[in-house]
Amino acid sequence: MVDQRHNRLQNRGAVQIQNHWQHRRCPPVSGRSLSSKRVPATPSPMYTSKLVNQLAPSATIAAAAKARELRASGVNVLEFTLGEPDFTTPAHICDAGKAAIEAGHTHYTPATGIPALKEAICNAFKRDYGVTYQPNEVTVSNGAKHAIHNVLAAVCEPGDEVIIPTPFWVSYSALVELVGAVPVLVDTPEEAGFCMTADQFRGAITDKTRLLMLNSPSNPTGAVYPVEALEALARVAVEKDVIVMSDEIYDKLIYDGYTFKTFASFGDDVKERTIIVNGVSKAYAMTGWRIGWTLAPKEVSAAINKLQSQQTSNPCSISQHAAIAALDGPQDCIGEMLEQFQKRREYVLTRLRAMPGLTFADPGGAFYAFFNVSSHFGRELPGGVTVDNSSDFCTALLEHAHVALVTGDAFGAPGYVRLSFATSMDVIEAGLDAIEKFLS
Ligand SMILES: Cc1ncc(COP(=O)(O)O)c(C=O)c1O
Repeated sequence: MVDQRHNRLQNRGAVQIQNHWQHRRCPPVSGRSLSSKRVPATPSPMYTSKLVNQLAPSATIAAAAKARELRASGVNVLEFTLGEPDFTTPAHICDAGKAAIEAGHTHYTPATGIPALKEAICNAFKRDYGVTYQPNEVTVSNGAKHAIHNVLAAVCEPGDEVIIPTPFWVSYSALVELVGAVPVLVDTPEEAGFCMTADQFRGAITDKTRLLMLNSPSNPTGAVYPVEALEALARVAVEKDVIVMSDEIYDKLIYDGYTFKTFASFGDDVKERTIIVNGVSKAYAMTGWRIGWTLAPKEVSAAINKLQSQQTSNPCSISQHAAIAALDGPQDCIGEMLEQFQKRREYVLTRLRAMPGLTFADPGGAFYAFFNVSSHFGRELPGGVTVDNSSDFCTALLEHAHVALVTGDAFGAPGYVRLSFATSMDVIEAGLDAIEKFLS
């Protein structure tokens, strides 16, 4: 890190230490009467924090809940909301989980993951991308979402700015706010393939900038940054001394004609400013097992380790053993799932291209189609409804066509909607028929 950043860090450290010694101590209990009555200021004595009160609930989970509600009333809802593979976890991984139970791996493990898993993560990263990390640069967490929270809590101070290329994954801005930092949203247009340029990145950096949150392949757009574009961002990060959190959770879900490159691969000066987030959820259809991780320079990893040891302790012991089987075992299961995703992607894009008034950038990875429906705002849709935003569009589509999508507003992209094609071809075909009918 350059001197400027170093001084800033030193100053922050001083403030933290000062605050630590200024903490308030309560008087001993014997000093006041336990029986004295307290009159609550409000009808309920309970209190919830401002920080949490201001959080919006996850829009994808809310959209799925709405669809579930309608289904419970007997309607056949065609569901495209959730970002999780519809495949079951491959058998050899499940077997490793069962074997872990049989072998009695049902106790606490080291708080930040068992050594064998850390080693498997380092080996897999080296095997797949040729970049070396040591086990003391790995923290295994309860899914990638937890890993992202760890990163933000470990590196951000209240008031720090975090740059988020927009559209962004729903939880990014909420997690930034949760640590008292400030999301700085940088709009990336569809015509630019939803990729932030180096100039946009440079233009968004201020004295308060702490972190860039990058996500390629992206949820919700499926955008895969071209290698040169990524490298240009990396050069700005080094020049301006900004840390980059590269969320690479969809690294294995890349379609023909696109290339994935890890952000850590652009040289040591980039790697020392990079924190990789990844996990087994998407590549191995293991969303429920809750295993994610960070790869970070060892001083950042040490901070994350300390945080996690106080916060959650270890991720599930059984899941850790299953994750080793995923990373060390045969990798053809990924190719088999990708083949299915590729077929669905082709079908979805062909159908969407044929529908009136929709625009989108082809997704190069992940399993989402993110398309603009704003040309349908203001005109009468089936059921006699007129809508003027994506949220109302999704509500009308659900009520009148029984198709559940997620509004682009949740991803900072008004006018757009997200369709997850991580569902069966039957549902996809029926869903696109229903959308086409609704729009025409
Ligand atoms: C971009 C992105 N990052 C992180 C996650 C979280 O993954 P996990 O289920 O491992 O917490 C998701 C899940 O949808 C995601 O889309």
